[in-house]
Amino acid sequence: MITRREMLIASGGVFVAGGMFAPRASVAAENDKQLIFHTTSPNNGEPELANLVQSWITPLKHFYVRSHAPNPVINPDDYQLKIEGMVRRPSSLSLKNLARFKNRSTVATLTCAGNRRAEYNAEGKVSGVQWQSGAIGNATWKGIAIADVLKEAEVLPEAKHIWFEGLDEIEKGGGIIPFGGSIPISKAMIDSGPGAPLLAHTMNEAPLTPDHGFPLRTLVPGYIGARSVKWLGKIVVSDRPSPNHYVATAYKLVKNSDPIEWAESGPIYRFPINAAICTPQANSKLATGEIDLTGYVLPTGRAGSTVDKVLVSADQGKTWSKADLVGQESEFCWRLWNAKVKVTSNTRRLMVRALDTSGGFMPYRVPWNSKGYLQNSWYKLPVEVS
Ligand code: MTE
Repeated sequence: MITRREMLIASGGVFVAGGMFAPRASVAAENDKQLIFHTTSPNNGEPELANLVQSWITPLKHFYVRSHAPNPVINPDDYQLKIEGMVRRPSSLSLKNLARFKNRSTVATLTCAGNRRAEYNAEGKVSGVQWQSGAIGNATWKGIAIADVLKEAEVLPEAKHIWFEGLDEIEKGGGIIPFGGSIPISKAMIDSGPGAPLLAHTMNEAPLTPDHGFPLRTLVPGYIGARSVKWLGKIVVSDRPSPNHYVATAYKLVKNSDPIEWAESGPIYRFPINAAICTPQANSKLATGEIDLTGYVLPTGRAGSTVDKVLVSADQGKTWSKADLVGQESEFCWRLWNAKVKVTSNTRRLMVRALDTSGGFMPYRVPWNSKGYLQNSWYKLPVEVS
């Protein structure tokens, strides 16, 4: 476990007289985030796509932030993680108590279910943060296996789901609620390897910043970002998924905001395969001839799923050529790719699609859904040819 002092410094706080911790004023500025902010307070920002594909591990300054409420200010000395519900030994654990569990490290891609949401607007307006394709990033994470903590709590045999609750305060329906997540117990009990969900305290070798959930968050490899709950305050073991708004209502694929549809559809867990072109930029002016493309591809968040192929086209999908996958590969992580395509005077769009080894593929079109989740249709980049 990292020391309290390291946590405070990395969290953007400073020590003042008497060893007290005081948060600084502007989180976005102090983290040196280089993002396009859709909103601030709460912070919701994504990087320029050209910056996103500079490296396999996304530096913090280019890592998207998605928060539903302003960052809670948490004093690590007072911090307690509560474990309750269907367990024989409920508990409340301080950071010091948590330090006795074994630390584990992994690399995993985090992506928002709303990544590429803005593309749905062509068919019908979708509400929410208007994400382009930068709500994704790949990081190294260090923390404790959630399974280790659950084993110590002695989960009862009838338990089926693990709920997570954040310490943030979100205004919703005239009241204040925390952000909540939920995962099936079979996923939560994976205690080692790249698929093990963590209580993460470290991101890219540094303590979590307030934007990313200081002092502790869940990190659920292969699942949509909404299940990786920041500023974690409580774990509840249950026989059903969490009733929290962000499990029971939001993060579901529905056409209308109709209570029956909400009730009938299940929560989204795994992310589907996705890919985007990151260079050139949209609406670039291109000369005819061969050009270079770069981008990312994320295989389905299923154990063992790897990228099979990435295909690019400059002629509306009449012909496709294979992109080269470059750099590292690891389960539950994206890959970067580059490709060459021949631009002609007829080229209007550059397109990419991808397939993975678990049968995942990007469809030509994804049915519209009212919240604009899981947009993973062929990525179509408009360009101008001179
Ligand atoms: N956890 C809390 N407590 N509050 C939030 O608003 N947003 C979720 C998730 N965890 C959220 C949260 C969503 S929708 C995503 S995509 C990821 O955090 C984003 O994580 P990041 O901001 O560290 O990139």
